[in-house]
Amino acid sequence: MSITLSSLSSPSVPLRLQADDVIARLKRLQALEIQSTRLLGGWLPGVATWEVKHEIGLHLWQDAQHSRELRTRLWELRTSNPDRTPDAGVARLTQGLASAQEDYEFLSGLYLVFKTELVRAYRTMVAGTHGVYDAPTIAAIRRILPEKEDQLAWAGQELKSHLDTGEKQRLAARWQEYIRRLLVQERGVTGAEPVGAGEELVTLPPGYSCPLPFAQAKRDARFKITLTSASLPKDDDRDAKVLFQFFNYTQEMQAAETLGSTLWEADGMEWEFYYEIARHCYDEVRHSALGEARLAQLGHHGSDSPTTRQTTRGGSSTIRCAVTAC
Ligand SMILES: [Fe+2]
Repeated sequence: MSITLSSLSSPSVPLRLQADDVIARLKRLQALEIQSTRLLGGWLPGVATWEVKHEIGLHLWQDAQHSRELRTRLWELRTSNPDRTPDAGVARLTQGLASAQEDYEFLSGLYLVFKTELVRAYRTMVAGTHGVYDAPTIAAIRRILPEKEDQLAWAGQELKSHLDTGEKQRLAARWQEYIRRLLVQERGVTGAEPVGAGEELVTLPPGYSCPLPFAQAKRDARFKITLTSASLPKDDDRDAKVLFQFFNYTQEMQAAETLGSTLWEADGMEWEFYYEIARHCYDEVRHSALGEARLAQLGHHGSDSPTTRQTTRGGSSTIRCAVTAC
């Protein structure tokens, strides 16, 4: 009999988690949170819609912070190095989630399936661990949940406009089913769900392979891509210079995309590397948003001026070498 994820994640008998169970789940979940940061960073150049780039730039930083919350709790529970034993299931889930072919597939798999299951797992832990003995775990998860729930609400709304054809809906539904089956294979996000008896090894849809890292950043149809940058305004044209300045601010998304790609390309680094790069990436997204905000006040959008095509690969190897040399 095939076992579905929802039946695995909704036990009829409430869980009663022992300390070892809590530690094992926290280790798995903190690893998945930082992998979610890497996935969102890796896909940042591959997502076309400008506003979605801004949102996932925030989410990748939130996920890194959620990972830190769980790691802090693990340290209190005397697990000072939660990465000491690599979790092969985490690696397989990460590779599977990365291997969507279209941005709407990636986003629907990550948010509508994977992050939905993360939220369910957090709620299960809050209900299942001891309210007195393990109160700090409950407090940590309760700090995480509101941001995760906001992420899910955003994705549910945003994806409606992206799945605007029957074919896109079919592909997104097929991808979500693949992620669901992969999660069952890997015993859910917690790694503690029962093994699906008789399940065949889950494979990617035909013709699919991991598209990461993206060599070039994508832009949506509003943007005009040119070979050369816009020319500098004349010195006495103050209005044009102001527009030029804030348009350049919006282009800091290009720095964010390179840092996002670095999060994915620099595999096997220490957790602190991903945390710091995630903050830098989010800061560049914010700088882009600052430019957007000022341009909007002036009656413009970042796509009003031509932009050059941005290569996202290359910087990461430099950063990786610099970090590993320390
Ligand atoms: Fe910046």
